[in-house]
Amino acid sequence: MIKKGIILAGGKGTRMSPITKAVNKQLLPIYDKPLIFYPLSILMLAKIKNILIIVNKGQLGQYKKIIPDGKRFGIKISFLEQDKPRGLPDAFILGENFIKKDNVAMILGDNFFYGQSLSKMLNHCIKIKNGAKVVLHRVINPENFGVAVVKGKKIISIKEKPKKFISNQAITGLYFLDNKVVKFAKQLKPSKRNELEIVDLLNKYKKHNKLSAEFLGRGGAWLDTGSIEDFYKTTNFVSAIENQQGFKIACLEEIALNNKWIEKGDIIKAIKFYGNCEYSKYLKKIIS
Ligand code: TTP
Repeated sequence: MIKKGIILAGGKGTRMSPITKAVNKQLLPIYDKPLIFYPLSILMLAKIKNILIIVNKGQLGQYKKIIPDGKRFGIKISFLEQDKPRGLPDAFILGENFIKKDNVAMILGDNFFYGQSLSKMLNHCIKIKNGAKVVLHRVINPENFGVAVVKGKKIISIKEKPKKFISNQAITGLYFLDNKVVKFAKQLKPSKRNELEIVDLLNKYKKHNKLSAEFLGRGGAWLDTGSIEDFYKTTNFVSAIENQQGFKIACLEEIALNNKWIEKGDIIKAIKFYGNCEYSKYLKKIIS
């Protein structure tokens, strides 16, 4: 059972400049809460209580204002700074002392997931003992993503941004990996763009026949919020769902309460922390 998770929440955010010049992308709002809440909610829905958030050097203070530690959610959250964006697998090199001898989940700080069967899928993914599992989702523009060719749940091949069509199953930013990930990440060489590549890391698992897939399915939504257009698309999505249903997406205290990690009294403390806002009103509704 995977009990540890990493959120990779640094990065340059070049595509969203000038907005990301002074503020890290993951601290910007997706509708009514900072982007970082959404990937954090996914790890919490996976029942992961020990979480490492990797942020850019110099930005730790900003993050700690909104997430000082995991106490508000009844979990343990620690932080590490990455001095420069060396690529996604760097998470496992930086996180070596956090991972220790355990298996680990990793989610990109700018990835948004939503859907009816999400918790069930997560519950299945954290059971991985050996190898690596990626979450795939169908897209109409596979040439813009890392994609996987699959046979059932087995991955036959993977390719970053294929020019010629090989599959429409994009590899999302959510990974479940066994403890070999630290060793494999350390063996990687930087690519032409001078980054360690996640596809190269996953290929190491594939070589050993240890790479499998899980599908979010057509009832699920996955949005990579990396560009301005996709960022606002995600905001519109959250706003549409929340205002239609009256349920909030990624209300971290609600997930923690449902998981029995916190009690009503902790929600009252959280309301004081957030102050008089819509998010607090929602928290009040939960406990009334
Ligand atoms: P990317 O979308 O690849 O990069 P970015 O967010 O810096 O954006 P841009 O391409 O516009 O410059 O990163 C995916 C996520 O991973 C994002 O949340 C930032 C994070 N990240 C790190 O924290 N460290 C890294 O070394 C890299 C490459 C990304």
